[in-house]
Amino acid sequence: MILRQTAWLFALLTLLLSCHLPTVVAFDNARRIQLREEVRKLFVHGYQGYMKYAYPADNLKPISCTPLGRDPDVTNFGINDISPNASLTLLDVLSTLPLIHLSAFPDAVRRVATEISFDQNVKVQVFEMTIRALGALLSTYQFLDSLPDDLSLQAKRLGMKRKKVNVKQYQARLLDLAIDLANRFKPAFETPSGIPYARINLRHGMDKGESVETCLAGAGSLILEFGVLSRLTGDETYENLAKRAFLALWNRRSSNNLLGNTIGASHGHWLAPGLSGVGAGMDSFFEYSLKASILFADDSYLDVFQDAYAAVQTNVRTPDGFIYRPVQMKHLHTANPSTIDSLSAFLPGLQVLSGDIESAIQNHMIWWNLWRKYSATPEVWAWQERRVEWAGWPLRPEYIESTYYLYQATKDPFYLRVGERVLRDIVRRVKTKCGFAILRNVETGELEDRMESFMLSETLKYLYMLFDPTPLPRLTNSVFTTEGHTLSLPHGQLRTPSFVRRAMHRGENQQCPVYRNPELGGLVVGIERRADYDYARSVVYGPGLEGVWAENESGVKWWEGGFCVIPKAPKWSFDLVLAPSESGILPTTSHSPPSNKIHRDDQTGNFVISDIQGIILTVRWRLDRTGYDVSSIGPHRIRPGQKVYISDPTISHHVPIPQTPLPSHLPVELVLRFSTYLNSATPGETNNVFLHAIGSTATFGRAFSSNTYGWGFISGPVPLIRPIENSQGCLPFDETYMGILLLDRGECSFISKLLHATRAGAAGVIVVGFPQEIQQTLVGEGQGLIRPSAEEESLKISEEIAQSGMIYVDHKIGQGVLKEMKDGVKVAVELLHMDQPIQVTGHEGKVEDEDGSVSDRQKEDISRGKIFVGEWAVHNIHIINSNIP
Ligand SMILES: *[C@@H]1O[C@H](CO)[C@@H](O)[C@H](O)[C@H]1NC(C)=O
Ligand SMILES: *[C@@H]1O[C@H](CO)[C@@H](O)[C@H](O)[C@H]1NC(C)=O
Repeated sequence: MILRQTAWLFALLTLLLSCHLPTVVAFDNARRIQLREEVRKLFVHGYQGYMKYAYPADNLKPISCTPLGRDPDVTNFGINDISPNASLTLLDVLSTLPLIHLSAFPDAVRRVATEISFDQNVKVQVFEMTIRALGALLSTYQFLDSLPDDLSLQAKRLGMKRKKVNVKQYQARLLDLAIDLANRFKPAFETPSGIPYARINLRHGMDKGESVETCLAGAGSLILEFGVLSRLTGDETYENLAKRAFLALWNRRSSNNLLGNTIGASHGHWLAPGLSGVGAGMDSFFEYSLKASILFADDSYLDVFQDAYAAVQTNVRTPDGFIYRPVQMKHLHTANPSTIDSLSAFLPGLQVLSGDIESAIQNHMIWWNLWRKYSATPEVWAWQERRVEWAGWPLRPEYIESTYYLYQATKDPFYLRVGERVLRDIVRRVKTKCGFAILRNVETGELEDRMESFMLSETLKYLYMLFDPTPLPRLTNSVFTTEGHTLSLPHGQLRTPSFVRRAMHRGENQQCPVYRNPELGGLVVGIERRADYDYARSVVYGPGLEGVWAENESGVKWWEGGFCVIPKAPKWSFDLVLAPSESGILPTTSHSPPSNKIHRDDQTGNFVISDIQGIILTVRWRLDRTGYDVSSIGPHRIRPGQKVYISDPTISHHVPIPQTPLPSHLPVELVLRFSTYLNSATPGETNNVFLHAIGSTATFGRAFSSNTYGWGFISGPVPLIRPIENSQGCLPFDETYMGILLLDRGECSFISKLLHATRAGAAGVIVVGFPQEIQQTLVGEGQGLIRPSAEEESLKISEEIAQSGMIYVDHKIGQGVLKEMKDGVKVAVELLHMDQPIQVTGHEGKVEDEDGSVSDRQKEDISRGKIFVGEWAVHNIHIINSNIP
C-alpha cells in the first residue's frame, strides 16, 4: 500500500523536507565538555540537597526535602535493606567526589571517618551494603593511597589553596571501617552450602528464623569487594567466603550451564519457578565473574563467565539476537507474559567488556528504543505485547552505563546523542528542588519522594564519564564495581597463577576483535544506519509507518513478503558429534572421552585427537563473527589461540552430526562486489573490481545462505543487467535476462519487481533505494522501515519467487554502479559474507554446482583440513595426516 503511493509520497515529502531540514549537532570536544559540566551541576545539586536536607540520614526525600530513615515496618525491605543508619548516600558518593565534585571531598571523607559507625541495631542486606558501603570505602581508600604524602602536593592534587588539609590521615580509618563492616557480615556465610543469607543485623548477627531465600546476584557477587579487602589486609577470610559462595552457586548450574534466580542459602536448592536470565536477581553474577577475572587476573573466573555467557547467548537470547528474556533453567521455556527488566540493561556494557561488541550494540538498541519511547527505562516490560508491566524508573544507571561502555568501544557519536537525550529527560522529568525523584510511572511522569544513592554514584557518574573527553587511563587490573566504585589491584597484590594453570594456558591468546564501523557504499556510517537499527525500533514500537503490526482480523501478524528483515543470530554454542556417516552407528554420548583418544601437547597447549569415534566437540561462536571455534572436547577446555588437530585417518569417512539444529542463518547484510568485465569474456575471467558495497537481503525469495543452485555466495560473479525500459520493473518484461536485474525502488511493490524479473528469467534483483533526502523522511527520525504492499496477490506468488534473490542497496551505490555501466560496460556482481576478507585482486570465479554439492571453494577449504557447520567454518580445528602437528 505504501509503496504504491510513493509518487504521491515523494511530492509530499519533498515539501516537508524543504521546511524541515534535520539539524545534526556535531559532538566536538567543546560540546562534550559543555554537557559534562551540565552533568556536574546536576551532581552538585543532588549532593548539596542531600547534605543540606537529609544528612546524616541514609537517604534524601527529594520532593519534601526531608531525610529518609528506616521504615518502622520491618518488612519494608525496599527501604530498610539500604538504611544502615550510616549516612549511606554520603558513603556511596564518596568515591565519585574526587571525579566530579573534588572540593567537597575533604569534608566528606572527614565526616565518614569521624562520624560513621556500623555498630547499629539494624537489619540490612549484605549485598546492598557490600556494593554501596564496603565498595565505597575500599575505593576511597585506594584513592587516598594514590595521593602524595606531602601536604602541599596533596593540596595541589585536590585543587585546594589551603595546605593544612590532610585527607590521607583518614586512610587507615576507612580500611578499619571496611574491615568492621565485613566482619559484621561474616555470620551470614555460616551455612552448610556456603551461600550467604541475604540479610543480617549489623549489631546482633543472624536473626533466628531469618529467611533462607536469597538470589544469585546477591549471594554470588561479593567477590570484588571481599577480594580487595583480603588483598589489602592480608586476611584471606573475606575472599575465601565470597569465592566459596560464588562457586557454590556456579556448581549448582543446570546441565546447560544456566543458573536460577532464587536459592535457599541453607540447603542450596534453587527455588521455583527456576527462571534463568540476566535481569533482576541474577545480573551482577555475570558481571562479577568477568570483572573478577580482570581485577584479580584470574582466569578461573573467566572460565565461569564464558560458560555462563555462552549459555545465556544460546538459551536466554531470542533467535533474532536482540532480547534477553528469562527461560526456565531446565526446560528452557519462557514465562508468560515474557518480560525483560531494566536492570538487565547493564548487559551491553558487560558484553563490551567481554569483547562481544556486536551483541552489545543490538541489545542496547532495544533499551534505546524503550528510552526514547518512555523517556526512561520502564522497570519491567512485556516485550511480546509491547506493554509496560511495571512502570517505575528508580533513576537506575544500567542503561546509561552500557551507553558509556559502548561509546568507549565504538566512539560512535550516536551514543553521545543518546546520553544527551538522557540528560534532557533527567532535567525535565526527575529533577526537584533539592535532588532527583524516582519516577513512579514513566508513562504519566508521576514522581515518588525518594532518591536512590546510585543516582549520584552511578547514573550521573556514568553520564559524566560519557561526555568527558579525557582519555581513559590504561589500567589493566581495574574495574568499576556494580555500584560504580573503582577498584584496582597493583601487581604486587596479584597472585601468581599455579604452575598447572600456567601450563594449561599455553598457547592461549585472549584478544578482542577491533570494532569496525558499519559501512555503506564504502562510506563509514554510524550505528543508526545499520540495517538492524530499524528492526530494533520495530521490536519496541511495532513495525511499519503507523507503528503497529499489520494484522488482519484473526490477529495474524504479517511479516512474510516484507522487506522488514528479521535478523537471525547464529546459534551461539552447540555440540558436534563426530560419527561415521554411513554406518548408522550412533556415537556414545559420554562427555569424557577416553584419554587415549586425545592428547594435549605440553609445549604448544594444542590438542590432538587420534581417534574421533564418539568424540563430542562443543563449538562456540567467535567474537569476530566469522564462524565457530571448538571451545571444549568433553572435559577439556579449548581456549582462544589453542588449536585442535584431528589425526585420525578415518576422518574422511566421518561427518559432524549436529545435536542441535544447524543455524539456518539468513544474512541480514552482505557485501556486494561489483566488477567490470570484457565484452568477450565471461564474468570472473578478467574481472576488474570497482566497488564493494553493503546490501540488505529480503525476507522473501531465496535465502542467500543456502548453497543450492541459484544466486548465492558460491555462484561467483554474475552478470548484472540494467533494463533500458521499465527500470523499476513494475511491468512485465518482454525480453529474457540471464543474470541479475538492477532496478529502481518505487511505483510498485518489491514483490512485483521480483516477480517480473523472475518471469523474465533473471536469477534475482538488486533494488536501488531512494536518494537519502527522501529516504530520511519516510519514517520519523530519518529511518526508513521498508515494508511491502500487503495485497492478497503477493502471498499467492511467493511460491513462484521462492528461488529468486532480492537485495536492497543504497541510492549512492546504485548511482555508482550505473555510472560504471553507462557506455555499455559489462558489470558483474558477486556476493560475499560481511566478514569475508575482501581481496581486490586475484579472485577466481566459480560456478555453482547444479546438484547442490559444495562449491570448489569450499572443497578447497575442506581439503585444507577444515570442518564446516552449515556455511560456517570451525576455525581452530585442523585435519592433519600425522600425529605431530
Ligand atoms: C543512628 O546512629 C546514631 C549515631 O551512631 C545513633 O546515635 C542513633 O541512635 C542511631 N539511630 C537509630 C535509630 O538507631
Ligand atoms: C489472516 O491472515 C492469515 C494469513 O494470511 C490467513 O490464513 C487468515 O485466513 C486471515 N484471516 C482473516 C480473517 O482474514
